Amino acid sequence: MEIQLSDVSLHCLDTGTPDSGSTGETILFVHGFPLDHTMWSAQTAEFSKTHRCIAPDLRGFGASGVTAGTVTMSQFADDLNELLQQLGIDGPIIVCGLSMGGYIAFELWNRHPNRVGRLVLCDTRAKSDSTEVARGRAIMANQVEQNGMSGVSDGMVPKLIAAGSGVAKGITDVIDSADPNGVAAAQRGMAKREDFTERLSEISIPTLVVCGEQDVITPIEEMRSMTDAVFKSVFAVIPEAGHLAPLEQPAKVNEAVRAWLNS
Ligand code: MLT
Repeated sequence: MEIQLSDVSLHCLDTGTPDSGSTGETILFVHGFPLDHTMWSAQTAEFSKTHRCIAPDLRGFGASGVTAGTVTMSQFADDLNELLQQLGIDGPIIVCGLSMGGYIAFELWNRHPNRVGRLVLCDTRAKSDSTEVARGRAIMANQVEQNGMSGVSDGMVPKLIAAGSGVAKGITDVIDSADPNGVAAAQRGMAKREDFTERLSEISIPTLVVCGEQDVITPIEEMRSMTDAVFKSVFAVIPEAGHLAPLEQPAKVNEAVRAWLNS
């Protein structure tokens, strides 16, 4: 479905509504960069049996509208808040974000705390960018605006997934078809994001942290120390997975999330 927000239209999957027998609890799935909501297909299929699952394409990605320039993590979080309002969801929900989706989950918790009842943080980090990383993002943003997405997936895909993973082709197709203006705007937004490291101890809601064992972008040790800083947290390491653990090892991730939800 398409949901019209104040200045952009978001494409969104809304499945497993209370009418179809779920418990009525809602899970919001927030995708990583530069992907779209389809990265959560295995999770929405599984958790729609018991929960309402909302999986939007963020502004600038998938089938959603694009706004060029810079889109900050705060803007993405405000979009999600507005989306939930439009869908008539008021109470606290479970927010599950991967990587950039995790940065946005932190901002949702920061800006709209009443929205977030539980957190699932997959392959993400609390820390903001170093100057060098931010500079790299600016270069990439300018490049894709000028030259399009050609060649971007070649450098990116091997870092996103574990060696021998079967999902390379699907990921490559999504990256190749991403909108260059949307990609550039999110890169600039990520470069400006707030550092939440010192605020992790303020997170008092139940939190599951999921990390692919072979994640080279947000490695286990960094994610373990992030978990340790969150009061009510559980850490799940997913074997034979890289940065895109929910896509690479969907059954193992679903099992970890289900066990945590039931605990
Ligand atoms: C992602 O998977 O969303 C990216 O690795 C986030 C980033 O570029 O920091």
